[in-house]
Amino acid sequence: MKVIESSEELKSINFNQPFAFIPTMGNLHEGHLSLVKYGKENFSEVITSIFINPLQFGANEDFSTYPKTIAEDIKLLESLDCNYLFLPEPSFAENLEIINPKFSKALCGLSRPTHFHGVLTIIDKFLRVIKPSVCLFGLKDYQQQLIIKEYVKRKKIETEIISLPIVREKSGLAMSSRNNYLSKEDRRHCGKIYSCIKKIAESLRISSLEVMKKKAINFLQKAGFEIDYLEILDANNLSAVTRKTNKFLIAVAVNYKKVRLIDNIVVFL
Ligand code: PAJ
Repeated sequence: MKVIESSEELKSINFNQPFAFIPTMGNLHEGHLSLVKYGKENFSEVITSIFINPLQFGANEDFSTYPKTIAEDIKLLESLDCNYLFLPEPSFAENLEIINPKFSKALCGLSRPTHFHGVLTIIDKFLRVIKPSVCLFGLKDYQQQLIIKEYVKRKKIETEIISLPIVREKSGLAMSSRNNYLSKEDRRHCGKIYSCIKKIAESLRISSLEVMKKKAINFLQKAGFEIDYLEILDANNLSAVTRKTNKFLIAVAVNYKKVRLIDNIVVFL
């Protein structure tokens, strides 16, 4: 695997078409690796980036303490035969015009009001300098991939955005770099987040949304989770469910022992 250490070096590389780009913030786990595997299976080459993007962290968030495991990350990427790893220089995120996302005034965007601006601004830069055939994202960050898809379509950017399934721990907890802040036992306990939204997904046809929401929130609070939100929305645009909704998003964000955990399920009815 070739490690590209600057945007300058990136300019000199001719990727074999069609090639897949996978942006990450490192501390790689099976969720990230599932994207790399998909890229390797379906495209000529795969370029992964690791960049802890300062633009997407709020003032009181974990930018400075975000886990950094570059040596292990390189080993994992090499084991999957990833072709390139791009490590942008810190100035990569400097002097950029901040882009306003659509769909950011819901879910995570309410408690993290500048987060998606930061994500979209850095992804726009990546797409401009790399020009990949496809860019791969995980459905774990549902709102993130929805915002990027909408932007790429609206701006007619010639990169296809592909979203791939959530990879989970044995307990059902969605894999995340932030799970590293929790003990093994805590992670098992956090499997309750998934079982809770799965229950809603299974009863969507039969129960009232409001009643289900209340019950789920109650259950999670009793289990020690601090709720940021638990919502059932139209998955196409994050607006309220109507009679016409046929793609539902059940999305949840909680804090457990000060660790922010998010998860979701999409249901077609
Ligand atoms: P990061 O959290 O490192 O995630 C990188 C990619 O891996 C994202 O597309 C995310 O949705 C995906 N991913 C994370 N956990 C996953 C899981 N359990 N199953 C499937 N996919 C998973 O998301 C970001 O970084 C940043 O916001 C970024 C897009 C890199 C912009 O800075």
